Amino acid sequence: MPVGLDVNTIRKDFPILNRKVNGIELAYLDNAATSQKPTSVIKSLVEYYENYNSNVHRGVHTLSMEATELYEAARAKVANFIGVTDPNTIIWTRNTTEAINLVAYSWAYENILPGDAIVVSQMEHHSNLVTWQLVANRQKADLRIIPLTKQGTLDMSVCNEYIDDKVKLVSICHASNSLGTINPVKEIIVKAHNVGAKVLLDGAQSVPHMPVNVVDLDCDFLAFSGHKMLGPMGIGVLYAKREILETMEPFLRGGDMVLEVWNDKATWNEVPHKFEAGTPNVADAIALGAAVDYLNRIGMSNVRSHEIELTKYGLEQFKQFEELDIYGPMDLKIRGGVISFHSETVHPHDIGTLLDRAGIAIRTGHHCTMPLMRSLGISATARASFYIYNTEQEIDRLVDTTKQILEYFSNGKK
Ligand code: ALA
Repeated sequence: MPVGLDVNTIRKDFPILNRKVNGIELAYLDNAATSQKPTSVIKSLVEYYENYNSNVHRGVHTLSMEATELYEAARAKVANFIGVTDPNTIIWTRNTTEAINLVAYSWAYENILPGDAIVVSQMEHHSNLVTWQLVANRQKADLRIIPLTKQGTLDMSVCNEYIDDKVKLVSICHASNSLGTINPVKEIIVKAHNVGAKVLLDGAQSVPHMPVNVVDLDCDFLAFSGHKMLGPMGIGVLYAKREILETMEPFLRGGDMVLEVWNDKATWNEVPHKFEAGTPNVADAIALGAAVDYLNRIGMSNVRSHEIELTKYGLEQFKQFEELDIYGPMDLKIRGGVISFHSETVHPHDIGTLLDRAGIAIRTGHHCTMPLMRSLGISATARASFYIYNTEQEIDRLVDTTKQILEYFSNGKK
């Protein structure tokens, strides 16, 4: 591989990559949906349940104290990973969706009032669109949707026009799961702050794939999921600026989020615990810490470079298919490791099913971005998405098999 990562060594850390699908070596190209897990992450889950399993923040016994220490150490690792020094600005959630909903319920309903506006874009995942549709409807606020250019980038002239002094929140994806587009979020954050609006970044497709520093970006909220960055499913993160968290009401009520409770009232625990009601997902948080350790050993700049190389290679190979539409910008500086494609003649589900027969896993469908698909005049795409363990050989397999599929269908039609 003409790239900096030692992919052969990395691949040995991922047991699932040894398995066969339909009798053929697995080529896992569905990383935007979820990533695979290295042995260190799997082991950390087993180790937790074998050695430390206990509830956190509650016990004076050794297991509880050890579990609490590991759980809070994981929080500090995640904070450090996105460039923050205060681990208490990291709130554990189930996933990106829950993190966005937490902002909606705990911040937006208090701060977005009739006549205000929320800005999102046409490339948002449903979780970052439907959530704001509801807030806008209930609060009688305006929901402004930034359209896209033909290249699949945000139309920045409309974006500039939309971000005016009525806007209280800009909630936008850092990188698109369907197109791969990396948005100019720093520029958008400056614009939003100039009119006094807050910015939520949906980092589900950026945090796993590139260096992301919230202090440098100056975003107010960042939401992301553990399972797309080598961690387990069921653990996600909301980062928010401390001063904003202090003003926010709790999302869920229950144990651990309270300081004192009377028959008729309660006071809240300090940040971040006031947002973490009930027994948390201790094992998965600790395992996400192990995933962060793994990514740090590789280096996020190296992760990004590897994906640029793979995407460049893939896009070059896909040029041979005149009958395919390839979405997203061709400028690799603003494109993540995603290749979404569509054929007028072969349905994406057929492509996905036939690729699976050849041991190649991709995702097909609307990718939870139905309004985006509608704006492109299609209902679905076939999407290959890359990560640290993928190789040019796997892209060759994807391209060769896609070629056979397209030929098969075009011959069938004759
Ligand atoms: N949002 C994830 C994807 O794009 C599940 O596949």
